[in-house]
Amino acid sequence: MRVPLLDLKSQYRSVGQAIEAAARRVFQSGHFILGDEVVAFERSISDLAGIEHAVAVSSGSDALLLGLMALGIGPGDEVITSALSFFATAGAIVRLGARPIFTDIDPDTFNLDVRDALGRVTKKTRAIIPVHLFGRVADTTPLRQTGIPIVEDAAQAVGARGLAAAPFCTLSFFPSKNLGAAGDAGMILASDASLAAKLRLLRAHGSHPKYVHHEVGGNFRMDALQAAILSAKLPFLSDWNARRRQNAMRYRELLSQTPLILPVDSIKPGWHVWHHFVVRAPDREKLRSWLSEREIETEVYYPVPLHLQPCFSAWGAKLGALPHAEKAASEVLALPIHPELTADQIDFVADQIVEFYRRPH
Ligand SMILES: Cc1ncc(COP(=O)(O)O)c(C=O)c1O
Repeated sequence: MRVPLLDLKSQYRSVGQAIEAAARRVFQSGHFILGDEVVAFERSISDLAGIEHAVAVSSGSDALLLGLMALGIGPGDEVITSALSFFATAGAIVRLGARPIFTDIDPDTFNLDVRDALGRVTKKTRAIIPVHLFGRVADTTPLRQTGIPIVEDAAQAVGARGLAAAPFCTLSFFPSKNLGAAGDAGMILASDASLAAKLRLLRAHGSHPKYVHHEVGGNFRMDALQAAILSAKLPFLSDWNARRRQNAMRYRELLSQTPLILPVDSIKPGWHVWHHFVVRAPDREKLRSWLSEREIETEVYYPVPLHLQPCFSAWGAKLGALPHAEKAASEVLALPIHPELTADQIDFVADQIVEFYRRPH
């Protein structure tokens, strides 16, 4: 039985009609960038998250970059973030000439270790980027109490409760995300009206009025086609997230007697949307090959922690600097959890894992 990590073709069978109608509407309108479709989608996401302002952008990576630009971050500044995340989290900081200060993770949750982060605050700290990794929302209260701007990277937590936006929270609609576009798309949620206005200005080269530029922004606009498609898929999101949760709970039951360390649930109801189901596996590479031989796809998020990325070597971080993040990078393995998985497929994955650990090693 083949078990893919992602099954967008099967998802398309359930939402295809709505998507095609949305695409037709955009082509008939002849309006392809920003416009009514984007404004309507921004409103829907702002309502869903319960955060007043939503600014639609070209990707989750650009959402992070734009958020930091709106805070005026640049050379000489430090931005604290987790060492275990997708590269974009750190890339946004470095692209602006600022220095990323990496913290270790809480080994139980994979989220940024708050105490470690607070210990790294200096006079140069201009922002903190906690990452709601794998869809599990971290409690940002102690970070917010510092008064330092918090840019939550919620790329993997679309549809979760508990997003705070103090002042920003960024989302990704990359096709494999819980709510995926037909290409790249992202969003910034903002709690402050003047900062939201600044985001909108910088999203279109800082142009105001047209062709007059008091600030340098970029082209970070969302396409109308993406907004229309995302709006068509949005009504399915809560059902999809509920199915991800069900899948997670089934894995947790079926794998409870194995040597795997299983992912923890949310701190509060709704604060986890199970973007990935990530276990810690002794003998990870052997288990991964075993599963692959049985046509079960898995992935490693992320094999190299950010402080050890070759492009950041000039800052001189050494192996052993952030032990929990490094240990996680060597043990984590994501199992398929997408909403289209059948109960038989989950049982098959679990059976194969049980079988792997039953054999003599
Ligand atoms: C944690 C995290 N941050 C940022 C991003 C960047 O989002 P995008 O791929 O939409 O640029 C992603 C996803 O790819 C992500 O998982």
